[in-house]
This record gives sequence, structure tokens and C-alpha cells, in this order.
Amino acid sequence: MNYTTETMVVAVAAFLALLGAAFAHDHLFAVHMGILCFCLVVGTVLLVRNVDFAPADQRRKVDVSGYFDEVIRYGLIATVFWGVVGFLVGVVIALQLAFPDLNIAPYLNFGRLRPVHTSAVIFAFGGNALIMTSFYVVQRTCRARLFGGSLAWFVFWGYQLFIVMAATGYVLGITQAREYAEPEWYVDLWLTIVWVAYLAVYLGTILKRKEPHIYVANWFYLGFIVTIALLHVVNNLAVPASFLGSKSYSLFSGVQDALTQWWYGHNAVGFFLTAGFLGMMYYFVPKQANRPVYSYRLSIIHFWALIFMYIWAGPHHLHYTALPDWAQTLGMVFSVMLWMPSWGGMINGLMTLSGAWDKIRTDPIIRMMIVAIAFYGMSTFEGPMMSVKTVNSLSHYTEWTIGHVHSGALGWVGMITFGAIYYLTPKL
Ligand code: HEM
Ligand code: HEM
Repeated sequence: MNYTTETMVVAVAAFLALLGAAFAHDHLFAVHMGILCFCLVVGTVLLVRNVDFAPADQRRKVDVSGYFDEVIRYGLIATVFWGVVGFLVGVVIALQLAFPDLNIAPYLNFGRLRPVHTSAVIFAFGGNALIMTSFYVVQRTCRARLFGGSLAWFVFWGYQLFIVMAATGYVLGITQAREYAEPEWYVDLWLTIVWVAYLAVYLGTILKRKEPHIYVANWFYLGFIVTIALLHVVNNLAVPASFLGSKSYSLFSGVQDALTQWWYGHNAVGFFLTAGFLGMMYYFVPKQANRPVYSYRLSIIHFWALIFMYIWAGPHHLHYTALPDWAQTLGMVFSVMLWMPSWGGMINGLMTLSGAWDKIRTDPIIRMMIVAIAFYGMSTFEGPMMSVKTVNSLSHYTEWTIGHVHSGALGWVGMITFGAIYYLTPKL
């Protein structure tokens, strides 16, 4: 493969980043553009090393007959790498809570490191796991090579650039102050481009499939990709104070702004931390257990029920606020109803082991997966309960919320990912 055009585009982008740093309207933007320029220069050097200077007819040919697994190998390494970073920062902020003297102002205080933890674990560890496994699953279940050639590389490296820009921004103090969507406008724009490319690769592969049926895991992955695109764009609608500055102002204000933020926030849980990982469960659990999905019909029913209900549950994050009472009650009712489709997924995952329960004793990968599904069940029982207003008046502002978060995020998301990593590593 010859990367001449790509090299030139990245080199020009590095130059533009340098200009951005030189003409920046604020100091933080200048530093951030400097970091971007450095990353792009490194990218240019790496690409130049890949350019094949041989005459066109003598160039190395890339074998495009089989599945495109090289990018998945990189994705797996990135998942483990960001997992280690994210968990370590989690330990650091936990220590900071216990020993406040460990707050090192201004760059490494709790306020700046907390979003580094949440973004590193959700978007860097979880996001890489989702992109990597979705590329693996879609190829196998569609019996087709990834669509778009090098576009998958763009998605991978573009996503890593997003992570680096987001994390360095938090440490510098650049933030929109929207939980789970802290990066500023220019980083958001970049992620939008990368995400559209991801959708194109995924959808393109489904469209050119050789398998007539679209396996249910792909419905979950696609639900995740499409909905995250919608949530990201709406939640980040903002007007930059300057095109050469790091500050922007949200298009919404007051309680509308809060509702938009939590419509996004809760659906990030529903579609990033749930739907995508259910896609993972529906492929890797049957594969590892060597059993068919317990009820395919249930998987379709709980997919549509989940998609329909999650979207309405956001207001349970705004109980007892200025949000109209009817909207809070609506959020509460939909959250309680959400228990059912969530447990549809849990039952389907657990019961896929029917006839293979003995594997829990012998197969460590199945153990991780079963722990994950059990935590999914527990957190999706606890969540609806916490969304009841009287319960929330007790739980909100306590570490119960943090416990709930980690039962879902570490118990479910973490463990199903560890299972998938152990499944994939020897096969790649
Ligand atoms: C070694 C593993 C981990 C440790 C030590 C850890 C530690 C922490 C700590 C100390 C906090 C701040 C709590 C507070 O403000 O009171 C936190 C928050 C958070 N963590 Fe973790 N964490 C870990 C793994 C994970 C994983 C794997 C995920 C997601 C995939 C995750 C997602 C979150 C989220 C979303 C929050 C914010 C919760 C909220 O605002 O209510 N964590 N974590
Ligand atoms: C039926 C499913 C679920 C419902 C109804 C639900 C409901 C809730 C409720 C009521 C809160 C507390 C809001 C507050 O008092 O501020 C909450 C917080 C949270 N939940 Fe869940 N939950 C569910 C499943 C999950 C799962 C599976 C995960 C992770 C994989 C998760 C991640 C979170 C996070 C990250 C927060 C903290 C948000 C913040 O920063 O304040 N939830 N959830």
C-alpha cells in the first residue's frame, strides 16, 4: 500500500496546527495546537517510513482476499494500554479523595484528573474495545472484508488522536464542563469526522455482506454507532468564542441545557456502555460457550425495547431540580420500565450457557463473561430502583451512585471486555 496522499494530508495538517499555535487567541489553545502539531509530525514521519518508493508495478501488494485483522490487532493493544492508564488514574483519584494532600495544583488536581479517568475508561478503553470487536464481529458474521480499505486505519488513528487531545485538554484546563462530553468544540468536530468514517466502514461492510441474515450483534453495534453520532452532535452544539480560541458557549441555556446534557449522558450509558457491549456479548458468549443464543426472538424484542426506552430515561439524573415535575416523573417511569428489556439481555446471555454450565468451572473466559452478565443484571436492577424519586433523594450525592456506576462500568463493561480480549488474543 502506498500512503503518499495520506502523508501529504497529515503533513499539511501539522503545518496548519503550527499556524493555529502561532496565531492563537489564548494561551491554552496555543499549547493544545502545539501538542496537535507534535502528534501530526510524528504521524507524518511514521507514514513517510511506510511510503513505497519502488516503481508502481514493483510495489508490495497488500493481500485483500481475507479479513482485515491488522487494525484489530492494534485496537486490542490500544484497549489494554488505555485500560491500564484509565484504571491507574482511577486509583490516583481514589487516593486523592482519601489523602487530599495528593492534589497537585493546577494540572494534577482531582477536578482535572477525574474526567481523565472517566474519559480514559469509557472512551479510550471502552471505545477501542468496541471499535476493535465490532470490526472483528462484522467481518465474521457478514463473511466480508472490512469496507473502505485504509479507512479503518483512519478510524483507528483518528480515534487515538481524539483521545490524546481530550486527555491533554483536561489536564491543561480546557473543558466544556459537560460531564462525559468535556472536550472543546474543535476536538468534538474531529470526533464527528472520525465517527462518520467509522459508520461508513461498518455500514459498508454490512451492505457488501455475503451472508443474507444480519446477525443480532450487528444490530446492537449499529444502534450504538448511529445513536452516539446523534447524541454527540446535539449535545455539543456550541458557538466558539473565536475560531482560534479554546472556549465555546453552548447553544442551550438553563434547564434546557441540563436536560440536553443528561439526555446525552444517560444515553451514553445506554448506547456506549450498554448496546455496544451487548453486541459483544451476543457474539463472544455463544462462541466461547459453543452454544446457540438461548432465544433469538428475545434478542430482537429486547433490542427494540431497549432502543425505544433508553432515550426517555435521562431526566432521572435531574430529580428535584428546576426541571418540570412531569418530566422527572416521565424519566422515572421509563427507567423502571427499562428494567425489563435490560433483563431480557441478561437472561439471554446467562441462558446461552444452558447445557454448558460446567464450563464455569473449567473455562476462565466464560467465568469473566458470566461475572459481566451478572453485574449487568445487578446494575440494571439497581438503576431503575435509584431512579425512583424517593430512593434517589437518599442515593443522590452519596457514593452509592459511584458504586452503581462501577458495578455497570467495571463489572459489566470491564469484565465482558476482558473476556473478549482473552478470546481474541490467541486468534489474531
Ligand atoms: C481500577 C479501576 C477503577 C478505579 C480505581 C476507579 C476509581 C474511580 C474514582 C475514585 C472515581 C471518583 C469517585 C468520586 O468522585 O467520588 C471514579 C469515577 C468514575 N469512574 Fe471509575 N474507577 C475504576 C474503573 C472504572 C471503569 C472501568 C469505568 C468505566 C468503564 C469507570 C467509570 C467511572 C465513571 C463514569 C465515574 C464517574 C461517576 C459519577 O460521576 O457518578 N471507572 N472512578
Ligand atoms: C436500566 C438501567 C439503568 C438505569 C435505570 C440507571 C439509572 C441510574 C440512576 C437513577 C442514576 C443516578 C442518578 C443520580 O442520582 O444522579 C444512575 C447513575 C449512573 N449510571 Fe445508571 N442506570 C442503569 C444502568 C447503568 C449501567 C448498565 C451503567 C454502566 C454500564 C450505568 C452507569 C451510570 C453512570 C455512569 C451514572 C453516573 C452519572 C453521573 O455522573 O452522575 N447505569 N443510573
